[in-house]
Amino acid sequence: MSPTALYRRNQYAADLAQQLLKPTALQVQVRSGVFLSGIRRIGKTTFLRQDLVPALEAMGALVIYVDLWVDRSKSPAALVHEAVRATLADLAAPGSTLLQRFKGLNVGAAGFTFGFQADAVGKPGGATLAEVLTELVDKVKTDVVLIMDEVQQALGTEDGNNLLFALKAARDAVNTRPSTPGYLLFLGTGSHKSLVADMATRRTQPFAGAVSASYEPLGADFVRWKHEQLRQMPGIKLPSPEVMHQGFVAVGQRPEELQNALVLLQARPESPDMAFPIICTTLAAAASEVEIATIESLGALARALFERVVQGSESGESGLFSADALRQYAEQIGMVVDTPQVQNMVERMIAANLIHRQSHGVYAVADPFVRQAWQQRKAMQLPRA
Ligand SMILES: Nc1ncnc2c1ncn2[C@@H]1O[C@H](COP(=O)(O)OP(=O)(O)O)[C@@H](O)[C@H]1O
Ligand SMILES: [Mg+2]
Repeated sequence: MSPTALYRRNQYAADLAQQLLKPTALQVQVRSGVFLSGIRRIGKTTFLRQDLVPALEAMGALVIYVDLWVDRSKSPAALVHEAVRATLADLAAPGSTLLQRFKGLNVGAAGFTFGFQADAVGKPGGATLAEVLTELVDKVKTDVVLIMDEVQQALGTEDGNNLLFALKAARDAVNTRPSTPGYLLFLGTGSHKSLVADMATRRTQPFAGAVSASYEPLGADFVRWKHEQLRQMPGIKLPSPEVMHQGFVAVGQRPEELQNALVLLQARPESPDMAFPIICTTLAAAASEVEIATIESLGALARALFERVVQGSESGESGLFSADALRQYAEQIGMVVDTPQVQNMVERMIAANLIHRQSHGVYAVADPFVRQAWQQRKAMQLPRA
């Protein structure tokens, strides 16, 4: 089964681009920044690069995209500076495709010139990001959108923190001017729900007050498209579109897992609608193995805590620190635990991206997929040691 082309999400991209670049009076908060989160491998990066960047460009924006996971050996600031320098170099390169877009501005044949040394950006003595980005907006006379993929990577280090404060300074320098020829917009996306949401909501964060939302995973339209494509292949076994969609949801709306399930289906003798749900459930459990192993490695208290968060997310209330909760842990692990111990473990589990803080005192499982696998394991009474 050859993996075919990627499904395009034009409508979602156009909606998001519209909100960013042409916000209504009720949406102007987007100019403070937008943070989108969603679990790993559900198509965030693909959507940004394939759909959103072109949609923003079609509306006239200049987009700078940086993936902070692309090279873990480089600091987030180094990666952002690199991307900014590359854009500046493109704008100063005669005949570059990017330069073509700004022909109407009477730019000389040699491209844009800047009042600072473009290749020194981010280096000692070089211009600050606020200076560079302000001049960039003024020269191209349009909105500049900086997309930072896996933006939570900038947290927790001095370098990353300085970067975020520098970008906030740049944002304020550009966007607070009474008549700016364009806005400076930040879109951060990431797989670590808690951390990404915190960036927009925590008062101590430079981007506090920004918009925080969930990335919209691929849905039924994607599954229909995939079904339609595969149906053309002679001799292929396929579940009905409905069963295929349920399977896609069961594997956490991950396109690669759907593909794997379809490949496995070809070797099954039963009817596709019977076999497919089983294959998906099995794959879902296998894919969560890594996370479940992490919980196991953190020990009995982590297990008890995770169990409580899972229960809480079913009943809508979790209360990890109540007297009742402490009693429940003690019962499960056969030893009394105190609040600091629980606090410490909660922090470790948040750091490991196992659970996330939804709001004050309310916790949820970070990956709904892992929650499902956990519940299935429990239902099957598998030993967890
Ligand atoms: N629109 C799409 N159509 C088909 N497959 C997709 C699409 N988006 C993502 N995928 C598949 O899912 C995989 C994970 O996507 P990716 O964008 O890397 O996810 P994330 O950034 O959320 O971790 C990709 O390698 C690709 O095979
Ligand atoms: Mg990604």
